[in-house]
Amino acid sequence: MFGAFAGFVSLALLLPSVSGTIGTQSLTWQNVRIGGGGGFVPNIVFNPSQKGLAFARTDIGGAYRLNSDDTWTPLTDFANDTTWDYWGIDALATDPVNPNNLYLAVGAYTNSWDPNNGTILKSTNMGNNFSSYPLPFKVGGNMPGRGMGERLAIDPNNNNILFFGARSGHGLYKSTNAGETWSKVTSFPSVGTYVPDPTDTTGYNSDIIGLSWVAFDSTSKTSSGSSRIFVGVANMGSNNVFVTNDGGSTWSAVAGQNNTFIPHKGVFSRAEKSLYVSYANGAGPYDGTLDVTSGTWKDITPAAAVSDLYYGFGGLAIDAQKPGTVMVAALNEWQVALMWPGSYLLLFWFIRVFDHAVKDANIFRSLDGGNTWTTIWEWADYPVINRELPPIYICVAEDPLGDTDVSEKLVGWMIEGLSIDPFDSNHWLYGTGETIMGGHDLLKWDTVQNVTLESLATGIEETSVEGLIAPPVGGPLLSVVGDIGGFLHTNLNTAPATAFQTPDYGTTTDIDFAGGNPLIIVRAGGVSGSTDPQIALSRDGGNTWYALYAAALGTYGGKVAISADSNTILWVPSSPSTNVMISQYSSSFTNITSLPAGSAIAADKVNATVLYAASGSKLYITTNSGSTWSTTSASLTGSAVKIAVNPNVAGELWVSTSTGIFHSTNYGKTATALPSVTNAWNMALGAPATSGGTPALYAAATIENKNALWHTDNNGADWYQINDAAHGFGSADSLILAADPHTYKRVYVGTNGRGIFYSTA
Ligand SMILES: *[C@@H]1O[C@H](CO)[C@@H](O)[C@H](O)[C@H]1NC(C)=O
Ligand SMILES: *[C@@H]1O[C@H](CO)[C@@H](O)[C@H](O)[C@H]1NC(C)=O
Ligand SMILES: *[C@@H]1O[C@H](CO)[C@@H](O)[C@H](O)[C@H]1NC(C)=O
Ligand SMILES: *[C@@H]1O[C@H](CO)[C@@H](O)[C@H](O)[C@H]1NC(C)=O
Ligand SMILES: *[C@@H]1O[C@H](CO)[C@@H](O)[C@H](O)[C@H]1NC(C)=O
Ligand SMILES: *[C@@H]1O[C@H](CO)[C@@H](O)[C@H](O)[C@H]1NC(C)=O
Ligand SMILES: *[C@@H]1O[C@H](CO)[C@@H](O)[C@H](O)[C@H]1NC(C)=O
Repeated sequence: MFGAFAGFVSLALLLPSVSGTIGTQSLTWQNVRIGGGGGFVPNIVFNPSQKGLAFARTDIGGAYRLNSDDTWTPLTDFANDTTWDYWGIDALATDPVNPNNLYLAVGAYTNSWDPNNGTILKSTNMGNNFSSYPLPFKVGGNMPGRGMGERLAIDPNNNNILFFGARSGHGLYKSTNAGETWSKVTSFPSVGTYVPDPTDTTGYNSDIIGLSWVAFDSTSKTSSGSSRIFVGVANMGSNNVFVTNDGGSTWSAVAGQNNTFIPHKGVFSRAEKSLYVSYANGAGPYDGTLDVTSGTWKDITPAAAVSDLYYGFGGLAIDAQKPGTVMVAALNEWQVALMWPGSYLLLFWFIRVFDHAVKDANIFRSLDGGNTWTTIWEWADYPVINRELPPIYICVAEDPLGDTDVSEKLVGWMIEGLSIDPFDSNHWLYGTGETIMGGHDLLKWDTVQNVTLESLATGIEETSVEGLIAPPVGGPLLSVVGDIGGFLHTNLNTAPATAFQTPDYGTTTDIDFAGGNPLIIVRAGGVSGSTDPQIALSRDGGNTWYALYAAALGTYGGKVAISADSNTILWVPSSPSTNVMISQYSSSFTNITSLPAGSAIAADKVNATVLYAASGSKLYITTNSGSTWSTTSASLTGSAVKIAVNPNVAGELWVSTSTGIFHSTNYGKTATALPSVTNAWNMALGAPATSGGTPALYAAATIENKNALWHTDNNGADWYQINDAAHGFGSADSLILAADPHTYKRVYVGTNGRGIFYSTA
């Protein structure tokens, strides 16, 4: 153990008060493949100068680069607890002059949920690594309006010049030193007035959307850069497209504009010297195009859409090689798409329920600059979609949701990012609320009218993980996640064929197995208003499920635990209350009034009549399957977060709190604080280093002021940080952990936005 010894010596010199080793361990990390993306992809941006170079940005899971085999490489996995909000990417810019340069405008929320100002991340090697430059305001990668844009743009005639359109009333910012420092363009006339919901007291929907896009007229070259630049602003009913003709010194509203709706995207066509603008709002959007030379606008709203404009327009693409070829995507209801998370989920539910009736996004394509359009589908006899004219052949690549409800009919929804490869007119990509779609035979749209549409999101893992288990039989892993349900991962490197079905919850919030019969598994659904009870049981390791009618309709979400003999289920739902509830032998759940609402819960994995709860600094136990509960004499400090149990030993448990981790081997009669931990969230017990030894404990915890993922083999005498510079896993307090009972140092890490990782020693 040279490594450990060396670590001890060097750290002991620095930190003499720590008795054991505080060190690092290097593990190999890979994504558990869910496939199909799993989350919203607001935009995909091709570099205009280098063939094949493209980037996708997500709202909670960072940025990705496209590979030549259609897969994607994540670029921002370094984001750790300090830089968790780097996974919210509000804009990206790939340099038309030097394609090695990539800029990301990062930051999660502009309201109080994220205390940090935004950051410009700059890479000079296409995203392999980045330098960070602070912005003097917040950036909202997961805020309403995140699909507009891009808000960040590089001058194609001088790539030291960038403009960024800020949110929250901060206006327009400019950099003249390639993104390193930024100053406000004080002459810019509008900071934006539109807010989705002025009454939202959280600040989420009441913050100003601000400037929505920046588009350079690349034909307006001067010795110092482009002279003509257009900027779109989220204003409704007042001027919202502005132009400068002197490189940004003076600005004016573009004459003749129709400002009834919000300009969503602005795309400049160099060949046509035209700016295309897509608009959207809840009332009825339209498209427009502006001829720069004459300065006149032309309404090019697709005629097929005019009678049915409830959805708004989002994605907008031109074919750089074919002047006049333009595509636009229906966004769905603009206001619905804006109101994350409530309405997003509502929309999701709506799509699932009515999918065969009305809800599929349409995509429009014009070859003549918007005079005439064709659509990717048409109505037959409303509400039946005619798939024959033009037929789309949908091929599903690695989308576990595809065969159940997406591929059969869905072009998608929330389509904000739509792009045609500037070097290949056949290659197109668009982002949806769940995945990236696209294909390689787009030109067939115009000839044989048979376009192959594929899910092309391999490598993108964007789920927000809510629960993981690694039971001793079956598995090896089962997951539950936000929006797209949960999965039995029989092979960590292969996308499961399907999400959990019957019931299919979409958002699923927790999962547990019965210690005495680990093929019996319970999960909790997070869907309000569902006609399925939000507790489901499996008796075959998660292959098949049935809804448990013990759960009253209308109660949903939260945490769940099942006793070792599977006869008792504890549930702390998230609504209508967070009371601890109990069901025995499938009887209806009742409130346990003697336990505090919102308690952490767990079942002993060996002793069938023992279950635990923890709240504040109290640990509770029942030894009679929940008939009565008592406070244990374990003295904890801080506020309890989570209980983890030894899967093989009755009465051994760990409680994480806001001040540490407390270990008990006697059903909570006594508990000992593990050394060095000052705050802890999730924990997992896994295979010991040697057979029969102390189980490995993994914890998302604060040790030496570092919020990270830690590992100990001796109950905290020595701790090793196991996340590393390349795998930060985002915010430590949202990590979901499970550890393999058979393989030492195999830990499963669920993140909030980058799916699940697993380690190999
Ligand atoms: C990126 O990596 C290269 C090669 O390892 C290194 O030379 C460079 O300093 C790194 N840049 C940043 C910003 O970390
Ligand atoms: C954000 O930037 C503003 C303006 O420079 C500054 O006043 C504020 O302190 C910054 N906030 C943080 C958390 O750094
Ligand atoms: C703006 O466009 C909308 C939708 O097409 C239309 O109803 C309205 O009349 C237009 N306003 C003007 C001033 O042209
Ligand atoms: C469309 O293309 C697919 C894939 O090449 C093919 O299987 C299908 O028969 C074609 N359909 C029509 C109507 O041509
Ligand atoms: C449990 O308590 C909550 C909050 O008081 C209440 O809304 C709910 O109806 C109760 N459930 C049962 C089954 O008594
Ligand atoms: C389970 O717990 C009960 C109550 O503490 C105890 O009486 C019993 O011996 C335990 N059983 C096992 C197998 O540990
Ligand atoms: C996150 O990474 C940065 C850059 O490597 C580092 O300075 C910081 O200490 C890390 N934070 C944590 C909590 O590990």
